[in-house]
Amino acid sequence: MKKRVLLYALMLMLVASATGLAQDQLIIFSWWTAGGEEDGLFALYDVYRDLYPGVEIVNATVAGGAGTNAKAVLKTRMLGNDPPDSFQVHGGSELIDGWVKAGYMEPITDLWEEEGWFDVFPKDLVDMISYDGQVYAVPGNIHRSNVMYYNTKVFEEHGLKVPTTLDEFFEVAEAFKAKGIPALSIGSRNSWEVTHLLESVIAAVAGPEFYVELFNGEHAWTDPRFVECLEVLGRMFDYINEDHPAVTWDQASGHVLKGTAAMHIMGDWAKGFFTANDAVPNEDFSSVPTPGTNGIFIVVTDTFGLPKGAPNRDNAVNWLRTLGSIEGQNGFNPKKGSIPARVDVPTEPYDVLALATMEDFGKDILIPSVAHGSATIDAFASALNDEMGIFIIERDAKRSAERLEMQAQDLGLR
Ligand code: GAL
Repeated sequence: MKKRVLLYALMLMLVASATGLAQDQLIIFSWWTAGGEEDGLFALYDVYRDLYPGVEIVNATVAGGAGTNAKAVLKTRMLGNDPPDSFQVHGGSELIDGWVKAGYMEPITDLWEEEGWFDVFPKDLVDMISYDGQVYAVPGNIHRSNVMYYNTKVFEEHGLKVPTTLDEFFEVAEAFKAKGIPALSIGSRNSWEVTHLLESVIAAVAGPEFYVELFNGEHAWTDPRFVECLEVLGRMFDYINEDHPAVTWDQASGHVLKGTAAMHIMGDWAKGFFTANDAVPNEDFSSVPTPGTNGIFIVVTDTFGLPKGAPNRDNAVNWLRTLGSIEGQNGFNPKKGSIPARVDVPTEPYDVLALATMEDFGKDILIPSVAHGSATIDAFASALNDEMGIFIIERDAKRSAERLEMQAQDLGLR
């Protein structure tokens, strides 16, 4: 009897694989595992399942904010000829220098034309995902990197005003310090968070033009303006949570959520984290641009493309269609904390902070994020992360600047 059951199961498996049933999958690779980002991803999966029922979605995630671990795993897969059907990749250098120029991606310009996307995505964004006249990805969202979240009750209780300039920030930080409260929460376990803070500081201290020129290799890293940025960054570390070396970005947001720290400078995926934890925007928490960066918008965009040799190509193309659709954008972004990349979507599902971000995106000076793959090649971004890991221990601005200049020269960026 047992034998017959086994034989029957074996036959079923053979039939399924012969008809391709067992292979009707969609393998999506990302690092979205934290509160908010995972909710957004799952909402997007739901939209896909509604539109294309019967496909099994394989959620190939590798935990670690900003892709700290995922990017290495993806590289191994891609180089080992084992690509997923589609993967999360930042628009700009990470996509273009990392994958497109190296010949790993299929152009999807025809899909863009078919879907009429050239009319509904901002031109600046299309430029970030294009190379040699072809488009290579679909942007799922726009995140803002330079955001400062704060616990509204902590500020009220202590009668303090939310800072909008760096001078105000340091005044408020002193006041919190005197009361024994960490003013600024950070998780420096993976040093990208320090780079993340640094990009806001460069924009605030040296301005958006210098920021762009610096990453374009037009200024030495030993330029006194950059050294000053490091000094300001170093000062911020006088006001942070003690457990920072053990903490990740979402745990750092958790400090603000619980009121064990007052502020956290993080991309607006942190808003996704807060709302996933039932915190209400403008009641429990709120946000302003990082002090000193009003009018500047550091852009992060998560995109997905079509790797050559995608095992389930048709499903992958439908995934891209889903991501670029109004349903996809509006299923994903309200939970993810980001704003839609398409400009024509209904805005009802968005909270008041997202609406303000949309307005700023329309009028601010836009500059690309460094910590999130857009402004510089991966090798230099990694070197910067490593240097920031050293900097927060040594706190020697000049030495860090010198080493960065050497790295930039070694990589041919200067
Ligand atoms: C960024 C990514 C965001 C968010 C964040 C934290 O690099 O663009 O979508 O996931 O990392 O993991």
